[in-house]
Amino acid sequence: MLNSTELRNKYLEFFRSKGHTVIPSASLIPENDPTVLFTTAGMQPLVPYLLGQRHPGGRRLTDVQKCVRTGDIDEVGDDTHCTFFEMLGNWSLGDYFKQESIAWSYEFLTKELGISPEKLAVTVFRGDEDCPRDEEAAAVWKKMGIPAERIFYLPKENNWWIAGATGPCGEDTEIFYIDDEKEGDSPADDGGKYVEIWNNVFMHYYKHADGRLTELEQKNVDTGMGLERTLMTLNGYSSVYDTDVLRPVCELLRGKVSCPSEEAERAVRIIADHTRTATFILGDPRGVSPSNVDRGYILRRLIRRAVRYARGIGLDASVLTECAAKFIAIYGDFYTELKDNSEKILEELRLETEKFDKTLHQGLKEFEKLLGYIKDNRISGKAAFKLYDTYGFPPEMTLELSREHGVTVDMEGFERAFNEHQQKSKAGAEQKFKGGLSDSGVETTRLHTATHLLMEALRRTLSDPNIMQKGSNITPERLRLDFNFPRPLTEEEIKAVEEKVNEAIAAAVPVTCEEMTPDEAHASGAVGVFGDRYGDVVKVYTMGNYSKEICGGPHAANTGELGHFKIVKEQSSSAGVRRIKAVLEAK
Ligand code: ALA
Repeated sequence: MLNSTELRNKYLEFFRSKGHTVIPSASLIPENDPTVLFTTAGMQPLVPYLLGQRHPGGRRLTDVQKCVRTGDIDEVGDDTHCTFFEMLGNWSLGDYFKQESIAWSYEFLTKELGISPEKLAVTVFRGDEDCPRDEEAAAVWKKMGIPAERIFYLPKENNWWIAGATGPCGEDTEIFYIDDEKEGDSPADDGGKYVEIWNNVFMHYYKHADGRLTELEQKNVDTGMGLERTLMTLNGYSSVYDTDVLRPVCELLRGKVSCPSEEAERAVRIIADHTRTATFILGDPRGVSPSNVDRGYILRRLIRRAVRYARGIGLDASVLTECAAKFIAIYGDFYTELKDNSEKILEELRLETEKFDKTLHQGLKEFEKLLGYIKDNRISGKAAFKLYDTYGFPPEMTLELSREHGVTVDMEGFERAFNEHQQKSKAGAEQKFKGGLSDSGVETTRLHTATHLLMEALRRTLSDPNIMQKGSNITPERLRLDFNFPRPLTEEEIKAVEEKVNEAIAAAVPVTCEEMTPDEAHASGAVGVFGDRYGDVVKVYTMGNYSKEICGGPHAANTGELGHFKIVKEQSSSAGVRRIKAVLEAK
């Protein structure tokens, strides 16, 4: 038997012995990546380093990263899905490649964890027009002693890995544990015979917004091993909910259930899973509180869904805080932030559960009533909006409830009702958009436009697409921009940035604005925080080829209006964040 603490320690120790620096888990809230709401893989906080920036820990790193993925939320309750998990990972930043990566994975699994080599199967990339068949990885596996019949060549959908639509990516090799009691012909089918435990990605390409793949300057390795799944496999458990990180909470909940059933067990797992995720989001050093936008909204949805399931099996909503207290005890030694923030976690959870508990009962009554008089087995958008607005039912919850009763919801109608409501409070929203502008005079408007050009000039000059705005403050005299970057800019870089901005000004291109959905904005390559505002339309401002960014405006009509751009100061703002002050001079 191996528990979570032992597995974490063994993993980190093993890679430390292979020259890796052990780094702490990064925040669950990404600092460098605006395209995702939460950290979903160990590599995400490392993107700048996979692209070539030097990491203070060197070229070999290892860590245990806390991750949140809500894409499979409907599967939670089965044996293997969770919205929170820990990923054990090791990285080569332009250092070792396939040979060492595979050999060490094999050594760790067979020697350190004592898995019999006969229980392992692997997949490698089959090859296509983008990238050749991975005979190199297959040859290393054969050298390790894995026979050809347990090496499967699979296509991109199985053996290619990228975090989102664009970014570093490449072919991978996946390692599976063979469960002889289950059926299955290959790891590509889901008979359950092959349980994936580790993914080694050979990241040496970059995928651009237009779909193009180019070779990265360095060949990287990015690996990820799910802690809970590995513990389940090693210990012969039938579910991740039996592992030492989840079992105590499931047992606490089961002890309160008066009428055990399959349905109650599913509810127990959902409550445990969602409460664990909420505990980690609330307890993160960059943690958020429940709200109606962005990450706060996901957090709210998770908590409210857990409350509904708790009520559904006759438990008090306050059981969530009991569960959270247990999670803090289970994880607090490794993730000390949970102990440091325990008061906040418990208090926020209590407030949110109490608030929802008050309206849940009434809302469910309203829902039952609706079922009595709906037409075509469909709940109208207006009714779904009332459940949202009056009783705090996230639309996803109304949809789920409806499915349980064999009816559908007019989600487009919901969006319309939601947007109409938004329009009414638009004045307030416009105000919010202008963040950073002290007024909307001609000067501040021009400086705001120059800020966009400056952002893009920085990204291009420093060859770092992950540079993002961290703060902005504009007065009629100057602009001030904070952005993530690890070191001072050189004089040459400052000059190059100024030149790029002045080039855009000299080109005198019109500043155009289009409204679109966040997804469309993303696809168009606009810079901004995506997936950010629920059911909203964003404005995308384009300045020729010089800038494309999501923003609320206002802007100058043409870059030619701006005058001569000059950086007057470049300094540190906080750890990893630089600050630039710049002015526009009369030409
Ligand atoms: N980044 C890879 C994954 O998440 C290792 O599977």
